[in-house]
Amino acid sequence: MAVRPLLIFTDPGIDDFIALSMLLRDPAFEVCGIVSLSGNVGLDVTVNNALLCTELNGRADVPVLAGSAKPLCRPAQAAAYIHGRSGLGKHVEEYSTLAARAENAEEFTARMVKKYAGALELVSLGPLTDVALTLQKYPELVPLVRDVLIMGGGIHCGNATKYAEFNIVADPEAAALVFSCGVHVTMVGLDATHECVLSRSSIPQPGATRLGRVVPAMLNDYADAYKNVHGLEGVIIHDAISVLMLTHPDWFRREEHRVRICLDEGEHLGQTVVDLAGAPNCTVAMGADTEKVNGYLAEFVRELAK
Ligand code: RIB
Ligand code: CA
Repeated sequence: MAVRPLLIFTDPGIDDFIALSMLLRDPAFEVCGIVSLSGNVGLDVTVNNALLCTELNGRADVPVLAGSAKPLCRPAQAAAYIHGRSGLGKHVEEYSTLAARAENAEEFTARMVKKYAGALELVSLGPLTDVALTLQKYPELVPLVRDVLIMGGGIHCGNATKYAEFNIVADPEAAALVFSCGVHVTMVGLDATHECVLSRSSIPQPGATRLGRVVPAMLNDYADAYKNVHGLEGVIIHDAISVLMLTHPDWFRREEHRVRICLDEGEHLGQTVVDLAGAPNCTVAMGADTEKVNGYLAEFVRELAK
């Protein structure tokens, strides 16, 4: 089977770090680049954390670029209350020795879309700012993008607000542009990820390597944050769950819908709404096989922590 080229947009972020590790370690994928942007924490921190992830996974060959420092037209939000100021947990502060590639993220993205014409899958694990900027600047690229897989949205619930999920409401204008520009979106949102709460007992003991020490520490901090903020026992590794759509689509209950983003100011801002009129633009994960997803993730994080 041909290796699948991926370009990842991310705001690491503890769950991003696990998802990036999955994709960097899977020979089925060629990660042609990682664009870090502001989201969970600020841009400098997300760039460091993506570099750290490539370094600790032995993939310093994968370029990391700095994307947007803020949403298209709103102030940046952050989720340090979940991911800590370091973005990797309240008690984790790790710095990479690597440097980001000094190239404009949109130009790099356009170059990769053209290089892999028709085969490149964009994977968005944070706000859609840089995906939107690229497709807005180079609309001719839309037919050349195979798919945009996003962790984001939720048809029946929100988390950042009552109705909206963080990645969407952090930059709703960007999300609206991506969902309406003609590219196909595969949306793994809270409808699926909320069915995959991983128990704290699945968090491995620290291992002998630096990665083996960092991963358990960040997951334990993530579990503490979930308990303190959401009153939840366990963790939802949203981004890692979403990238399993790439390798195990049958683990998700999928429906084709036309999805639009609410841009009305107020409590519905950033809501992903199913439009009953109009041709579908999106494959939506409406649920997940909890046992299979959590079994995979528990084994994967054990592997990382060896
Ligand atoms: O709502 C969860 C999403 O927001 C995840 O991508 C998490 O990393 C944060 O970015
Ligand atoms: Ca994320």
